[in-house]
Parts: sequence; structure tokens; C-alpha cells
Amino acid sequence: MDFHVMTLFPEMITAGLHTSILGRAMDAGIISLNAVNIRDYSEDKHRHVDDYPYGGGAGMVMSAEPISKCYEDIVLKRMKRSRPRVIYLTPQGRVFNQEMAKEFAQEEDLIFLCGHYEGVDERVLDEIVTDRVSIGDYVLSGGELASMVMIDAISRMVPGVLTNEESGSTESFEGNLLEYPQYTRPEVWHDRKVPEVLLSGHHAKIEEWRRQQSILRTHQVRPELLEGAELSKKEKKFYRELLEKEQEMIEKNASEEN
Ligand code: ADE
Repeated sequence: MDFHVMTLFPEMITAGLHTSILGRAMDAGIISLNAVNIRDYSEDKHRHVDDYPYGGGAGMVMSAEPISKCYEDIVLKRMKRSRPRVIYLTPQGRVFNQEMAKEFAQEEDLIFLCGHYEGVDERVLDEIVTDRVSIGDYVLSGGELASMVMIDAISRMVPGVLTNEESGSTESFEGNLLEYPQYTRPEVWHDRKVPEVLLSGHHAKIEEWRRQQSILRTHQVRPELLEGAELSKKEKKFYRELLEKEQEMIEKNASEEN
């Protein structure tokens, strides 16, 4: 998978992503990262890439022409017939999730466009962008961090990037359940003991406990995910009992207040 990033801060992208699992995947040639400076395509002697907004208002808007030139250069150097998908990072986009990471990982290459200032001239977006994506409901200063988040999550879904051992941890969102808690030595730390079941060596019991912990966590912080989770009969019973216990607590508290 080849990632191309159009940005005003290429060094931020390369420095941020050339570490750990992704760095290893790049060294192995499984993924590549090409961060391109939009400013190199400015035709202005002062290398400007932005201008005042038509209609007035605060801030500057990134001009269409340098972005378009940058894009055409990436497409040309790629030497392939098809045009790759172009992802524009914006809070006005579809919210990124694990499903989308898996889908994007099927592509041979992807181009990311990182905006800055108050936005990007809409005409170049209409002309080159295929996907507008947000990484969450908050506003960042630019698309760089958002593109890095996406590249990390997408890369993990590219075959060969994760070792067999590492790919276990991507299961977290797969079954619509959050990951269970993990512990390592020592057995007691600050008077806190590792849950007994994990020391038992009883694999089936450990598996059952971990699934229950996942259900519990998901219920506590992301209950909407549980609707799409696949639970066994026994797990459904566990979840039902959990809800009943919660209901009892609510009723008990209410009666104590009265
Ligand atoms: N650019 C600014 N904020 C963003 C967000 N939340 N997601 C993607 N790109 C952005």
C-alpha cells in the first residue's frame, strides 16, 4: 500500500509515522509513505499557498492551483492508469471507524489532502476529492494529525503489517466489543492484586472471564456498540443479569432517596 500525503508540513508526517509497527512495515516494503509539500507547487515568488476568502470573513483559504498541481504530480509519478482515491480530512466528513479502515486497506494507494487555515477552495475539492473524512467531532488545527491517525489504522489492516501475535489486538472492535483488561508482573502492585482467574492456568475460564470483561466495559462506556455484538447464549445470560443487577441498584437508590 502506498500512502501519499499532500501537506504544508511533510516532516511532521514522516517523523510521526516512521516508528514502531509502521516503521517496520515501511522498512520491509509492505507500505510506503510519500509526504509532498504543497508549497513546492506555488507559482508565487513568495511561495504563498493561500489567499483572502471571497465574501470576507476571518482567516485565509488555501488556493486551488497549488493543490491541483501537487495532485497531478503525484498521479503522474505513480505511473498507473487508474486514479487513486483522494481523502480530504475535514470535520465536515464521514466519521472514521474500523470498518472504513478495513475498506481503505483494500486500495493499492491512497492520497490524503491536509487542509489548513480556514479551509480549502471548494472547487479543487469538487475536482479531485473522492472521500471527505473526519476523525471525530472536534476541530484540529489541520488535517495532518487526522491523516496520521487514519494511516496508522489503515496500515494495521494491510496484510503482513502485523505479526500473528499482534493481530490479536485488532479484535478489539471487530466483534463490536472493547478490549478486556490486561495485567503483567508483579502479581501485587500498590496492594492491587491481579484477578485470580488469570493465575489459574484454566484457559477456558480465562477466555470466559475476558469476554465478560469486554461486555462489561462496552456496556459501561459504549453501550450502543453492544447492539451489534455477537454474543453466545451464555454471554447473553451474563449481559441480561448485568442489566438486571443495574436495574435493582437504580430502584434501591431511588427508594432510599424517598
Ligand atoms: N481537520 C480539522 N479537524 C478535523 C477532524 N476532526 N477530522 C479530520 N480532519 C480535521
